Amino acid sequence: MPVADEHLVEMRGICKRFGGIQALLDVDFWLDPGEIVGLVGDNGAGKSTLIKILSGVYLPDKGEIYFQGRRVHFESPHDAKALGIETVHQDRGLVGNFDVPSNIFLGREITRFGLLRLKAMEREARAALQRLGMEIAALRAPVMNLSGGQQQAVAVGRAISTQPKVVIMDEPTAALAVKEVHKVLELMRRLKDEGVAVVFISHVLQEVLAVTDRIVVLRKGIKVGDLPTSEADIDLIVKLMVGTGEVNHGG
Ligand SMILES: Nc1ncnc2c1ncn2[C@@H]1O[C@H](COP(=O)(O)OP(=O)(O)O)[C@@H](O)[C@H]1O
Ligand SMILES: [Mg+2]
Repeated sequence: MPVADEHLVEMRGICKRFGGIQALLDVDFWLDPGEIVGLVGDNGAGKSTLIKILSGVYLPDKGEIYFQGRRVHFESPHDAKALGIETVHQDRGLVGNFDVPSNIFLGREITRFGLLRLKAMEREARAALQRLGMEIAALRAPVMNLSGGQQQAVAVGRAISTQPKVVIMDEPTAALAVKEVHKVLELMRRLKDEGVAVVFISHVLQEVLAVTDRIVVLRKGIKVGDLPTSEADIDLIVKLMVGTGEVNHGG
């Protein structure tokens, strides 16, 4: 039976080493439904590694992951997706010469009697983009011909088209125009309103402060901050990222 104070997702004591580099050391990280959590830290702090473990890309060397109170083991991204954990990775993971619907349905194409249902895929791709407040006229063009913002929309559209419980976005606003950044932030708020737990990785601290409920700070693989956004400001976050301080509120 789930207990009242359990989190939707809980990672405990996560360690990960790449050769001589301790990418993560004993990191605790949790998520609740309907919250946007900012994950920040200098380059190489371990942000992407942490979310790759949560999305089943990497196995941790040590540590446990719980989903709705149950211990889980992710052997592949498929295992995490099966529980409703969707990730938009830093590199977006699109296939450049495929069109928009093919990218949104990559690996889970709609088929009927063994035939691809192109019309259905196109319709659902359009619906996913509409939910993002984005419109792409050239749905059947190769995605490599789209703008950065449109490509980002396709990557996010793929993530949300499955009605996930957790959406992880690794630097989704990097290389976007201001208007497109606002759309991504707006989308995160909308997901939050739908009860989705959102992880937002960004090095633009203004964006993180504007949209998140809680901020987790990593420094050289160690969690040095976990605090409500209402108690944070840029100075404090920067100090935590590069300095020697620590702020950890229980969870
Ligand atoms: N696949 C990998 N192989 C070797 N080293 C890696 C790999 N992925 C990450 N690292 C190293 O682990 C550390 C954390 O990287 P990363 O999680 O990408 O940091 P961030 O996303 O915070 O910039 C860095 O020193 C990085 O070079
Ligand atoms: Mg990264």
